[in-house]
Amino acid sequence: MAPEIDLKAAINAVSDVIQNRPRPIREFDQIYMKAGDMVMQSELVASWAAGKQLAFIGDGDAISVCVAYLHAREIIGYGPSRIIVYDFDERIVGAINRFADRERLATLEGKLYNCLDEFPSGRYFDCFYTNPPWGASNDGESVNLFVERGIEALGYEGEGLVVIADDEELAWPKVVLGKVQTFAAAKGFFVSRMMPRLHEYHLDDNPNLKSCNLIFTSLPGNGREVVSMPIVDLGRLENFYGLAQQPRVRYVRERKRVDYGMASDAEYAFEYIKDGGD
Ligand SMILES: C[S@@+](CC[C@H](N)C(=O)[O-])C[C@H]1O[C@@H](n2cnc3c(N)ncnc32)[C@H](O)[C@@H]1O
Repeated sequence: MAPEIDLKAAINAVSDVIQNRPRPIREFDQIYMKAGDMVMQSELVASWAAGKQLAFIGDGDAISVCVAYLHAREIIGYGPSRIIVYDFDERIVGAINRFADRERLATLEGKLYNCLDEFPSGRYFDCFYTNPPWGASNDGESVNLFVERGIEALGYEGEGLVVIADDEELAWPKVVLGKVQTFAAAKGFFVSRMMPRLHEYHLDDNPNLKSCNLIFTSLPGNGREVVSMPIVDLGRLENFYGLAQQPRVRYVRERKRVDYGMASDAEYAFEYIKDGGD
């Protein structure tokens, strides 16, 4: 982390964001990054995408919110000029937009979008960020779909930061890293930076599994008009969220507006002090 950053202020700001984060749904590989890593990652993203238009393809971690908030509070003196988060979970999109509204983060917006659908056209971003389902059971095919949507968001020109599993012992993260690099290379991108084994997660069944930052940059002259298509090849979706976990949900809908910092009334009941003392 850059030495001029007030670490206490940064951690407290990230803590505000964590309070606002909906609880993760494991079925969709929502597994949240730990707080210390969020602080470091947010500073890195803020500097990497400073002055640029940044698209997030999914963002349960809420790195987008941290980046916009730290910049707006002047805890970090730089950041993207615009951030749009595309996620299929209405709770996440709603939490982002309510936080942005409350804290007057004019640069930040969440939009409901499922990456099985064509990417909404109309603008090209300078860079994209994704921390996708990690593709342990489909050789990284789910990562590739999120990367594909990110590349479409750029109009094939710019940079992408992909956060995926990275482990010295396990075989599957190495296979996925190899496959994703091959996939991006076929679309005219090369690996311009790799930061190994950086982040830790609230992951009960493998608390030691870390992720890396893999940064892709487009080759010169790679930009092109995008015709984004929905996914019709169901073979691409096998084991998408893990073994035998095909996508079957278009959107996660928010049942009722939740204040995520507060306990839900479904979690507790009151036992009252009896009238008269005994
Ligand atoms: C799959 S999780 C990966 C783990 C990551 N640390 C997290 O929890 O954010 C990343 C984000 O992708 C979103 N997501 C999952 N499936 C999606 C889909 N089909 N289209 C768009 N977003 C999706 C989730 O809601 C989540 O916010």
